Amino acid sequence: MNVVLGVTGGIAAYKAVEITSRLKKAGFAVRVIMTRAAQEFVTPRPFAELSGERVVTSMWDDCTERHVEHIALADWADLLLVAPATANFIAKAAVGMADDMLTTVLLATKAPVMIAPAMNTDMLNNVATQKNIALLKERGVMIIEPAAGVLACGAVGAGRLPEPPTIVGEVKSFFDRRDNGVRSELINDCNGKLAGKKIIVTAGGTIAPIDPVRFIANRSGGKMGVATARAAAGAGANVVLVTGNITVALPTEPNIRLVSALTTDDMLKAVLAEFANADAVIMTAAVADYRVKDYSPQKIKKKANSFTLELVKNPDILRELGQQKQPGQILVGFAAETENLAEYAKRKLDEKNLDFIVANDVSRKDAGFDTDTNAAVIFYADGRAPEDFPLDSKDKLAGRIIRRLAEFF
Ligand code: C5P
Repeated sequence: MNVVLGVTGGIAAYKAVEITSRLKKAGFAVRVIMTRAAQEFVTPRPFAELSGERVVTSMWDDCTERHVEHIALADWADLLLVAPATANFIAKAAVGMADDMLTTVLLATKAPVMIAPAMNTDMLNNVATQKNIALLKERGVMIIEPAAGVLACGAVGAGRLPEPPTIVGEVKSFFDRRDNGVRSELINDCNGKLAGKKIIVTAGGTIAPIDPVRFIANRSGGKMGVATARAAAGAGANVVLVTGNITVALPTEPNIRLVSALTTDDMLKAVLAEFANADAVIMTAAVADYRVKDYSPQKIKKKANSFTLELVKNPDILRELGQQKQPGQILVGFAAETENLAEYAKRKLDEKNLDFIVANDVSRKDAGFDTDTNAAVIFYADGRAPEDFPLDSKDKLAGRIIRRLAEFF
């Protein structure tokens, strides 16, 4: 989940450093936007260190990563959190001004917005501020109520920024509420057909070890696989999630059992061990097609100027499952291609004896590896016309795949 954290210029800006750290530890990806005034209280450095990302401090930074940065950030966010939110920021938000990066992203984003007002009690109680907060609430902005206590200015009353664990707790419970909503929607849409079904999902890439310290890997981080496992669990299935090399946080749903399998051989064994009584397998993993022929049990030392590794073919897990599959078992494959998408995907559908295949063009910037969004075409074995799923979040695409899977039961 992606949180854009806006930090405005109040004395409590220092607490936003801890909020960043706690959000990261809780598994969120965080991008920080600081207003100019916020930088008078804290420098961008601790935010950059803790978020692992460049901090956005102005509309006019040279930015090589993104085209139109405010729109990219607005789209990237699953939640825009502003903590602390000053009276000035709240006033600008209420009238829809966009005179800096934070207010511009606020106007551009479709993501839910949560703000934590923090200021002197009199400023907070001022009719103007109260009206602005009420207006934002009316528009659906979530307000984290300020705490009471001794304020930086010496006054005693409401206006303190709640402690970072409280704010991060609000963020977590927002996502929990949202996920529960998505889950009940999924169960409804699937008519309960996946409830209690055993579904194996694979995620991430498998690796080919070279020696104890080196391996060959691919760019899959496991986002699509984990999203698919969560969607299947959300629809009521009992999921076995077999993970290769993944960079995303592991899901914690009680109906997802985790199995780790780093190499293709391990993944084959793990999947086969679960297959006999499984109702469906979704092979989202980017399985390494080759392994190193002679694994060196000792670290290979640097000697010659060139070095050749011999690779041998790995088993094809899906093809194996396709041969073993019994009536009633559904097999879903993925095809990540950079060219001839339809032709290659249809060939795999056929050769691996799949029920459907989700094909995505990984040469696109906004789809495939390392992105939160994906676009795909599903090809079916039953002769149905291929179905296009335009660019959307991986969570949403996973939900659509699971709805299609439910139709087979
Ligand atoms: O043949 P290709 O690797 O492109 O096929 C992709 C699909 O097959 C994916 O669903 C992937 O998880 C699966 N696969 C597999 N075993 C392999 C290679 C790919 O199960 N050795």
